[in-house]
Amino acid sequence: MGSTVAVYGAYGHTGRFVVAELRARGFTPLPSGRDAARLAAAFPGLDARPASADDPASLDRALAGADAVINAAGPFAATGAPVVEAALRAGIPYVDVAAEIEANADTFAHFADRARAAGAVVVPAMAFFGGLGDLLATTARGDWTSADEVHVAYALSTWHPTEGTRASGRVSTDRRAGRRVRFTGGALEYHDEPLSTLDWTFPEPTGTRRVLGRFSMADVVTIPSHLDVRDVHSYMTVEAVTDLSSPDTPAPAPADATGRSAQTFVVDVVVRSGTEERRATATGRDIYAVTAPLAVEAVDRILKGKTNTTGVASAGEIFDATDFLDALAPHVTVERH
Ligand SMILES: NC(=O)c1ccc[n+]([C@@H]2O[C@H](COP(=O)([O-])OP(=O)(O)OC[C@H]3O[C@@H](n4cnc5c(N)ncnc54)[C@H](OP(=O)(O)O)[C@@H]3O)[C@@H](O)[C@H]2O)c1
Repeated sequence: MGSTVAVYGAYGHTGRFVVAELRARGFTPLPSGRDAARLAAAFPGLDARPASADDPASLDRALAGADAVINAAGPFAATGAPVVEAALRAGIPYVDVAAEIEANADTFAHFADRARAAGAVVVPAMAFFGGLGDLLATTARGDWTSADEVHVAYALSTWHPTEGTRASGRVSTDRRAGRRVRFTGGALEYHDEPLSTLDWTFPEPTGTRRVLGRFSMADVVTIPSHLDVRDVHSYMTVEAVTDLSSPDTPAPAPADATGRSAQTFVVDVVVRSGTEERRATATGRDIYAVTAPLAVEAVDRILKGKTNTTGVASAGEIFDATDFLDALAPHVTVERH
């Protein structure tokens, strides 16, 4: 029988994809979350374990007997540290799907020393935002030991956000007091400059699209956590930002038997060193659904010891990025240019 993996936030939109992916790959999921009734209703037949992020004993019960935990309950400002603490107490690896820049930076800041000392593995942002861009940047840079800039451009056909995405955006905005954040000059920097629009030319068939520049995503934490780079820029297609900003945009709706929406994505990563550029591009469908194979592949590799390091580490640092990306087929198609 496969390994047992606890999933916190299991009945959320992303958590459900994670539980389904675990089952499809032969793992035994232990679904957990704070609402016992919703948990039991969502996962009949599974060993569901209600737990509250502010009740450590309940988290210990949720993780009892698990080989690893995936945290899909966000905003992660509330759940990240308590579930990492529980994973450290249980002596099991922790993987989360946090997109919040501040929550991811906190995981590195608060747990790097303890996790390394314990030989524990903690992988934040093991998801579409933060994880995929980092894997692409890492495979693209190849043998370069440093780079001047990494550019991560996102073309989403639409962005119908979940309540978790909206809540996480609000928490992050509050935590930075409405300011914007960017990674420049080798550090995260808060600023009040307006976002600018520009054209980004994605590989065909997407082609040239209008994007918002400096639309910072979790990649500004994960990529410079292990790549020696001065600036990390991320960009988002204007239509996707408009969808995200509108309170009237509906939540994602299933469009196939697996529950994926019709949304498509392109993540185009350019690493620049002097006048030379290296590029890797990923395409796929549904940013929430694709987070499940990213997080589950990570757990699979950690449990098999296919890792480069211990402590708090992003996807690009802890895994062989090229091999990992290849393993994501058919969920993600990668081209290196
Ligand atoms: N990095 C990425 O690319 C990526 C991809 C997918 C998701 N995410 C992140 O993952 C999180 C979940 O997203 P989603 O799409 O699954 O949203 P969702 O459908 O709204 O689900 C949110 C889940 O988190 C739980 N939750 C929220 N606050 C909690 C708390 N304080 N304690 C315990 N559980 C709590 C919710 O439980 P209740 O219903 O009981 O509140 C629910 O199970 C968000 O932060 C989102 O940004 C990131």
